[in-house]
Amino acid sequence: MATKKEEVQSDRARELELIINELDELNEEARDKNVWIRTKWNLPNQKAWHLGTSDTPERGAYNLGMEHVPPVPYVWKWANTEQYLMKLIDLCPLELTERQSVLLTNPAYGTHGVKVAGTMRIAISIYKKGDDAESHMHSPNASRTIISESGGFTMVEGERIEPVRGDLVFTPNGTWHAHGNEGDKPVIWADTLDWPLIDYLGCAWNRNDWENAADHKNPEMGFSDKFYGHGGIRPRFEPHPRGEGIGSTDKFLYSATDTRAALNDLRGFDGSPYEGISVEFVQPYSGEPTFSTISYRAQLLRPGEATLPYRHTASTIFFVLEGSGHTDVDGERFEWEKNDFMVVPNHRWRTMVNTGKTDAILYSYTDQPVVSKIGHYREQGRDKSGALVDL
Ligand SMILES: [Fe+2]
Repeated sequence: MATKKEEVQSDRARELELIINELDELNEEARDKNVWIRTKWNLPNQKAWHLGTSDTPERGAYNLGMEHVPPVPYVWKWANTEQYLMKLIDLCPLELTERQSVLLTNPAYGTHGVKVAGTMRIAISIYKKGDDAESHMHSPNASRTIISESGGFTMVEGERIEPVRGDLVFTPNGTWHAHGNEGDKPVIWADTLDWPLIDYLGCAWNRNDWENAADHKNPEMGFSDKFYGHGGIRPRFEPHPRGEGIGSTDKFLYSATDTRAALNDLRGFDGSPYEGISVEFVQPYSGEPTFSTISYRAQLLRPGEATLPYRHTASTIFFVLEGSGHTDVDGERFEWEKNDFMVVPNHRWRTMVNTGKTDAILYSYTDQPVVSKIGHYREQGRDKSGALVDL
């Protein structure tokens, strides 16, 4: 039988429930007036990411930041992506092919955002024989990760690049760029862009007045390597500015051969317990990430190598250049193999294993530079005993 005190408390709880219902109704009505009413009842309640035992960031029933939808971890299997690329090639005449792509969309966003993480977009483009796109430029940073073995070309600020598989071609904000395919086989590249972030900030724009583009009639070959390709040796003159943008790399091509050589030279070291052998693509003079918004990395996991649990406040997209394995995100297993893309959203614990008999090489794209710049980058790991380590 309830005590007197319990009865009073229960009466009060019923009264509060009625008031709360009334507050909810009031908020529904206020929606039309473009205001939102807040009390202790619907106070924002995002939990601190680095505290508590829950692996997944927790949210209260109500949250003032309702417009922020956190991405979920996911793998885009290459077989699925490729079938749509092939259908595009079959279906589209050259009149429709300019920049034709299959865009990866995070399941958390549905149709409400063409993005893989909150800040980044991946568009996988396929260019058929005769494709010859006119130059354009835009304020978002973009890059191309070359998936095909060879074929096709990119023009960036007058530099002609004929890339091969595993190359990274950067088209920084404010650079004129174009592409084409003069060969017989279609070529496939993955474009990584900070478009969702720049769009969110209201700074996205596009220019298609290609007649004002950098000189693409007399292209320079090998400029990036000639000028910036000798580590530790810096030319003491600048030939000309490269694009209108600020804070991005002037070296537009980072070759797969150089990347593989760097990883091979480092393979005898222990590397990081959280990432294996990992390198970052940086601007040749400043050592800063190639873009102020996205850091590009390459990671070697040796056969059988398994990483310790690791999490941080930046989101990361992975591309599997070679090998196979799996990544466990908050206990959920994501298997990956050649050409798959995967996203691990920020705050999520991950471990990675190379389950194959050969090297696994993954490229990654992370918004860590922008998260760092605004003062919010943090990372944590666990040691072999499972103890938490602030990194
Ligand atoms: Fe572009």
